[in-house]
Amino acid sequence: MQKIIAANWKMHKIRPQAGETAAELALALKGGTPLERLAVVFAPFTDLAVVADAVAGVKNLEVGAQNFYPEEQGAFTGEISPAMVRDAGGEWLLTGHSERRHIFDESDALVARKTAYGLEKGFKVMLCVGETLEEREAGHLRDVLDRQLRTAIEPLDATLRARLPQSFAIAYEPVWAIGTGKVAGPAEVLDAHLVTRNILTDILGVAAQDLPILYGGSVKPDNAGALINLDNVDGLLVGGASLEAKSFLQILGA
Ligand code: 13P
Repeated sequence: MQKIIAANWKMHKIRPQAGETAAELALALKGGTPLERLAVVFAPFTDLAVVADAVAGVKNLEVGAQNFYPEEQGAFTGEISPAMVRDAGGEWLLTGHSERRHIFDESDALVARKTAYGLEKGFKVMLCVGETLEEREAGHLRDVLDRQLRTAIEPLDATLRARLPQSFAIAYEPVWAIGTGKVAGPAEVLDAHLVTRNILTDILGVAAQDLPILYGGSVKPDNAGALINLDNVDGLLVGGASLEAKSFLQILGA
């Protein structure tokens, strides 16, 4: 399966900075991505159009939004719709990121609504899951992943399920490894990704084999190579180390 290396810029970069980084990526990747990997940049809303314009026409380099609200339009002050994301050039949507769950109190139910809505609107959706340190230490890794995956995927009807192979990815991001410099060790990543694959198989049957499961949490150029080669690790979701084109490109080629 094609490996996906995704950049999550979070709340970084004003437009000139975003444009410059995107242009550097476009220039480096216009002859093709390393190993035909797919690069995705999840940019802030205000940067989406600038980034999409800068990378337009570069194969295997796509753009997405970090958040959205699952309605067509209406009185939802401060929110942005998938149609607005599409208009700005985004084709991916991120759902369930731990910062949305934990800082903005997004519930499993809202994450589920957003995931279904994004798929329904024809986007590629990357659903993030992951446990807190407390949950891990209490032995609840499996339960947490099971709940987060099941609430978002089980309600999808047959039409949406049929879209999953082309339009869906999971990102396993242990909350304790995000922005902390603490990368999960190979044994922990292997185990969590296998648990994730098994839960997906339980929900979706054989179709689960084709769904990419990315790892995220303190991915850097020096640990990316070891992580990407682990079983059931089909990509990486990179925060801090994706902000500079140079380090993101190193990870893309790791
Ligand atoms: P860091 O790579 O900065 O730890 O962030 C990971 C993340 O949350 C990506 O979505």
